[in-house]
Amino acid sequence: MRSFKNAVAVITGAGSGMGRTLAMQLAEEGADLALCDINLESVLETKDMLAETGVKIRADQLDVTSKDAVFAYAEEVERDFGRVNLVFNNAGAALNAPFDKMSIEDFEWQMNVNFWGVAYGTKAFLPILERAEWGHIVNTSSLFGLIAAPGNSAYNASKFAVRGMTEALQLDLEEKGSSVKATSVHPGGVKTSIVKLARTSQNNTFMNGKSHAEAIEKFDKIAITTAERAAEIILTGVRKNKKRVLVGKDAVIVDKIQRLFPQSYQWLVRKYLS
Ligand SMILES: NC(=O)c1ccc[n+]([C@@H]2O[C@H](COP(=O)([O-])OP(=O)(O)OC[C@H]3O[C@@H](n4cnc5c(N)ncnc54)[C@H](O)[C@@H]3O)[C@@H](O)[C@H]2O)c1
Repeated sequence: MRSFKNAVAVITGAGSGMGRTLAMQLAEEGADLALCDINLESVLETKDMLAETGVKIRADQLDVTSKDAVFAYAEEVERDFGRVNLVFNNAGAALNAPFDKMSIEDFEWQMNVNFWGVAYGTKAFLPILERAEWGHIVNTSSLFGLIAAPGNSAYNASKFAVRGMTEALQLDLEEKGSSVKATSVHPGGVKTSIVKLARTSQNNTFMNGKSHAEAIEKFDKIAITTAERAAEIILTGVRKNKKRVLVGKDAVIVDKIQRLFPQSYQWLVRKYLS
């Protein structure tokens, strides 16, 4: 099992939720951290929370949808820390809207954050990871990268794409005998700000006609895993070099149901989410 002591870890979306708890647990284990988020205030807050750990931390504002900014950031982090071992392409956002009520601009925004952000991070850091003694790319997909859900066509598209890219990358890395590993992470419901910060359809309706407030309330009820527990599960999976990490009992159970009933699982999903 891999130890993270003295590793250098990059985490996108480190100002909240699982990005923040990954930072906390990696710092406890003695990893140096390059933390970034589109929201500078929140990532500085994460850095402040870790002030007493004694590990080296830098915190930057970074919008993962900006290709040039992500590549410049990767160069800067390597210059600053000398190497990178772990990259958590964790930053993400939700868009909840029925397909016909969603603007094409919102669809593009969703793909830019959740898919292109992960693709840029992977492409920018891969050569840097290959220069290090060991390297690992951890890309956050979702349970919704394994099953579809109503009102989630853009989110589903982005997360299925992250899974597809990461699984193909695993094959490419093995083929070339690379020292770098890759993991695709699939959280079920995790108690974070994801639904609070979500975009919705043009008439401001979430799935099944719910208001944003109702959707937040529903999510709080069904999100059964804490962000702390999610980070533990993710780090255990990475330590064991797992190709796929399912986060939470809901993810484990629903993944099985989807495989047994690849069409009729949709009925269950609709019932559970309504
Ligand atoms: N919470 C869940 O139930 C759940 C389930 C499955 C997958 N996920 C995924 O987990 C990841 C982490 O989300 P979370 O649940 O911790 O949510 P969160 O909203 O608490 O954290 C997401 C972070 O990403 C940042 N971010 C958003 N857009 C960004 C951008 N363009 N550039 C840089 N940073 C950006 C946000 O500012 C925020 O700090 C996301 O990819 C999300 O899609 C979450």
